[in-house]
Amino acid sequence: MVPTAPQIRRQYIDFFVNKYGHKEIPSASLIPENDPTVLFTTAGMHPLVPYLMGEPHPQGKRLVDAQKSLRTDDIDEVGDATHLTFFEMLGNWSLGDYFKAEAIKMSFELLTLPWENGGFGLPADRLFVSCFEGDSDAPRDIESAEIWQKIGIPKERIYFFPKKKNWWGPAGKTGPCGPDTEMFYDVLNDSDKGSHKKGGRVSQSQCNPACDCGRYVEIWNDVFMQYNKKPDGTYEPLKQKNVDTGLGFERLVTILHEKDSPFDTELFAPVMEFLKNHAVSFTSHIASCRIIADHLRAATFILGDPMGVSPSNVDQGYIVRRLIRRAIRHGKQIGISKFFTAEIAKLFIPLYENVYPELSKNKDRILDELNREEERFVKTLGRGLKELERIIGQQGGTVLSGAEAFYIFETYGFPLEMIEEELAKEGFTVNREQFQKAFDEAFKKHQEVSRAGASQKFAGGLADHTEPTKMHHTATHLVHQALRDVLGPHVFQRGSNVTGERLRFDFSHHTKMTPEQIKKVEEIVNTQIQRDMPVHFEILDFEEAKKRGAIGLFDDKYAQLGNKVKVYFMGDYSKEVCGGPHVEHTGVLKHFKILKEEACSAGIRRIKAVVEGIKDVM
Ligand code: SER
Repeated sequence: MVPTAPQIRRQYIDFFVNKYGHKEIPSASLIPENDPTVLFTTAGMHPLVPYLMGEPHPQGKRLVDAQKSLRTDDIDEVGDATHLTFFEMLGNWSLGDYFKAEAIKMSFELLTLPWENGGFGLPADRLFVSCFEGDSDAPRDIESAEIWQKIGIPKERIYFFPKKKNWWGPAGKTGPCGPDTEMFYDVLNDSDKGSHKKGGRVSQSQCNPACDCGRYVEIWNDVFMQYNKKPDGTYEPLKQKNVDTGLGFERLVTILHEKDSPFDTELFAPVMEFLKNHAVSFTSHIASCRIIADHLRAATFILGDPMGVSPSNVDQGYIVRRLIRRAIRHGKQIGISKFFTAEIAKLFIPLYENVYPELSKNKDRILDELNREEERFVKTLGRGLKELERIIGQQGGTVLSGAEAFYIFETYGFPLEMIEEELAKEGFTVNREQFQKAFDEAFKKHQEVSRAGASQKFAGGLADHTEPTKMHHTATHLVHQALRDVLGPHVFQRGSNVTGERLRFDFSHHTKMTPEQIKKVEEIVNTQIQRDMPVHFEILDFEEAKKRGAIGLFDDKYAQLGNKVKVYFMGDYSKEVCGGPHVEHTGVLKHFKILKEEACSAGIRRIKAVVEGIKDVM
């Protein structure tokens, strides 16, 4: 029997819940909370960073989840058989509980046990593993290799690689990280043993799990998170030793369904069928079809997220705009003449709504946003192409200046790579450096720093647990409550971004705040600071937290799973569901000031504020 994709996801979670006492937690939002350094959740570890750093998790020390994740660094590779922008990451977590021996044993068991005994039934003799070879930061991971050998992976199928391959994290510049051990599945049939998938026979040293020929598919990664990378680049031991594992769900389904690509599995089947029926020639446009399917699946999840963002020219909004517009462009290339993005979202939603109920809850929003963006884009596309032709016609040379590229970007909403694609047809290129400069300057003008920029590089650090950051995080809770007091209970957090220098808080509210309202909010927060209230958290049942009036993102899935939530209390003033960390007394904040209040998107306002006097207490 070939299990279905939902059965495979369930099998993973049940294995850890039933056999090894893990607690199932729902996927966190795709939009990270408080974290200033990443636009999207790029791995299961993101939402769990505070707990990897030592904050207690309300569900205990053993967790298991399927986390919605999104990575855009390989976006140009999408279209081949393996790359995906959005994906689900299955993970089991030990927060200062079990470590290498248990984690490796669990992984091996789950991969190799027959399906009817709770495993995935992969033949053990097709598994290869790799371990960290060691360097001046951390020793060679002999321990993991020995555990693998004891379990039954012979020495010749265990490889050692450097940090580039066998080390995970931090997701940004700083934060939790450590050596990892990766599991690979040899996808060649027995008759082809020893062959290099790209053709020809090569020696084992030329083709091993580090080879990109496609023979060895990495399926799972057990990270032993025991270090914290500091801003100066050095590593210190974490308070606790953790395990973070990541198993790409789509890849697993591909292997178990014995397909060559996730696009050939049931996770994409209805959409590929739709594209097959609408493309002029499916086989010659396979890459475009995959790009459309991949990008619109990602867009569906971003628009349908509980913290859903709308297409725009900054941050996450820019990414979702770019995904939708790129899909439309490829749609045109394969000969689709009608509006189609919402049609495709309608095919994805039923495939996922049981696991991610936010998609059916936000279905109207997803379809509306897609239709509107498609309308906008089709209108500007024609005008923009004409303008580009005009500029090219007027210009000597073959390089479009950054300023001109930026003008097209800003005026017509063409993402940079689309401008490049169009220009390439005429033998032109864009001066990227200049474009970047023009882009950065434009944002500065708007007093806005875009982390995405045109390069879509999500650099930056995670897990900034320094005192100034904690202060701004605590101030965020106080201002959230104060805004509700002053403006009304319709005010609700729609985004939060905290650094050691400032807080940025997006909330639902339709009109511009008056100067009096701003002043009032500042006064309330400052009064609560002066009261120097103790800050503490309690771990409460979902219903109890609701009953006690805690605010925060109450995910219905938490209720379904019977999960507990962590609620932070700032004295008697604020109660909010949150992972932490926070300062211990509000008094250390000294003084709170709102620097700016502005529109963020329809129905959402944004404030930027600082806790002053912070230097005095550092
Ligand atoms: N953080 C690791 C990864 O993303 C394991 O979950 O691969």
